[in-house]
Amino acid sequence: MSENAPRASFSGKMGLILATSASAVGLGNLWRFPYETSHNGGGIFVLTYLVVALTFGICMFMMEMSFGRRTGKSAISAFAELSRKHRFIGYLMALCPIIIMCYYCVIGGWVLKWFFESVTGNLSSLSDDSGAYWEGYIEGLTPGGFGQPIFWMAVFILVAIAFVVMGVTKGIEKTSRFAMPALFVLIIVIIGYEVFAVDGIADGISFYLKPNLDDLSVQTLTADTSQVFYSLSIAMGILITYGSYAKKDVDLEKTATSVCIVDSSVALLAGLMIVPVAFVFGFPDSSGMGLMFVSLPQVFDMMPGGAVIAPLFYLLAAFAAVTSVISMAEVGTSVLFDKSGIDRKKSAVIIAIILIGV
Ligand code: PFF
Repeated sequence: MSENAPRASFSGKMGLILATSASAVGLGNLWRFPYETSHNGGGIFVLTYLVVALTFGICMFMMEMSFGRRTGKSAISAFAELSRKHRFIGYLMALCPIIIMCYYCVIGGWVLKWFFESVTGNLSSLSDDSGAYWEGYIEGLTPGGFGQPIFWMAVFILVAIAFVVMGVTKGIEKTSRFAMPALFVLIIVIIGYEVFAVDGIADGISFYLKPNLDDLSVQTLTADTSQVFYSLSIAMGILITYGSYAKKDVDLEKTATSVCIVDSSVALLAGLMIVPVAFVFGFPDSSGMGLMFVSLPQVFDMMPGGAVIAPLFYLLAAFAAVTSVISMAEVGTSVLFDKSGIDRKKSAVIIAIILIGV
């Protein structure tokens, strides 16, 4: 590490909680959790997910952050400090966010496109119940062909880069301070509407919340565990990096517990917002991947004020996705900073260029 350049650090105790929550809450909660739930038996997946997240998840989360704080290093250097032969684990960890980024930005682009279409009054085409619009869009069959998904992915990446270049405290903390609570409230409003207005919603809620033990299988548990890793950003090098920015007086146990509770609550509510209505409307053909892009617009289309709520929801979802991408880029940025001493801003730009290339 460069001797003179200071490492980044979080401002105050809330800084670490905000940044790790911003990394954790994202498309994993809003897009991946609902479709994994619908794939894996509904209630039984939700129940076992919560058990895994709130036991194993919290422990892993805390352990990884403590490792970062103890070493004060980024993922690769932290493992190298254990011993030379452990260094490859750091490389593997640093590789994970880069691999995930490749498709995460594509989905981030879909969210922006849905924001754009709903803000320009096109909600009714998004809400066709067979999911034809969404399928056509991802297959390049809508006007503009593949140029459209590529364009929106590029916009998403550029927005994320702008935040990365702004730096760890300004970019992450400021955005998540207002965006996360707003998203939370909006999801609750949407659920409230669904409960009163969607016929047959009780059956959907029962599919989502009532565990059927006959559906419990090894596949449910492996799907749960991978969702926990994904959603809490565990073993991606991020928690080591953020732990290394944490001051010594920050209580990591409290941080881990709070963030895991926040993250699981958002996932649980996002599932409650999406899965029961998808159950009632009929799951779209493409095996759940489009739940957030097919079933939800149908609700917005029926909802009084849906024309305002839909763009607001997709905008906040895009924010949540961007803050997760910021954390992915932060892993590489901190590795470069530690290894080369290049200052954070330049490191961030280099990482951003590499990521666009990938
Ligand atoms: N935890 C993020 C989410 O749930 O959307 C996704 C994520 C962030 C995955 C950072 C991997 C990562 F390195």
